[in-house]
Amino acid sequence: MRPARITVVISGRGSNLVALIDAVNAGKIAGVITQVISNRPGAQGLVHAAKAGIATRVVDHTKFASREAFEAALAAAIDDGRPDLVVLAGFMRVLGADFVRHYEGRMLNIHPSLLPAYPGLDTHRRALADGAKRHGCSVHFVTPTVDGGPIVAQAEVPVLPGDDESTLAARVLEAEHRLLPDIVGRYCAGRLVLDHGNVRIIDTRTAADRS
Ligand code: GAR
Repeated sequence: MRPARITVVISGRGSNLVALIDAVNAGKIAGVITQVISNRPGAQGLVHAAKAGIATRVVDHTKFASREAFEAALAAAIDDGRPDLVVLAGFMRVLGADFVRHYEGRMLNIHPSLLPAYPGLDTHRRALADGAKRHGCSVHFVTPTVDGGPIVAQAEVPVLPGDDESTLAARVLEAEHRLLPDIVGRYCAGRLVLDHGNVRIIDTRTAADRS
């Protein structure tokens, strides 16, 4: 099986991207990150990608007259990389249904909450405001419902007395950096598929073989 071609799409800091790069370099993911795309030209993650020798592209949403036009350009950029897998790693735009359907079963997102709790923004602040005792992150397949696609896996962290938004965010982020590479590794090994809308994790290689 040839290595999976991965496109990572980001908006900012890129720490999850770095976790993926490290896992690829350590041989934990049978894949190659062929390109990193950001909708923000100043995203720090682009610097990390360039340092790792990965091709970068910017599709700046502010330069497009409509969401449809932005998404058409983003899809063209993604498809140019002929990806087996697209990873949204801190990508902060809501995507339309047609765009998302084009990548059904081959687009994963990491979200900083234990979905279905706290979809959307400000997840750490909302968890603290609710007095939640547990929080965490989720990796899910992307579907047209925002943060509502089939959940692949979650990592839980405690909310500790004295936590503020930044201490809680840091604890969740550490969990993200373990969870995302693990799931991407499973996908690239052919051990994770979306089967008629259901997540299937398998122990042996499947028909999803990439010869
Ligand atoms: C991460 O916490 C990720 O889960 C979150 O943005 C952060 C990006 O950090 N994603 C979302 O909120 C998506 N709705 P990073 O750029 O350092 O990886």
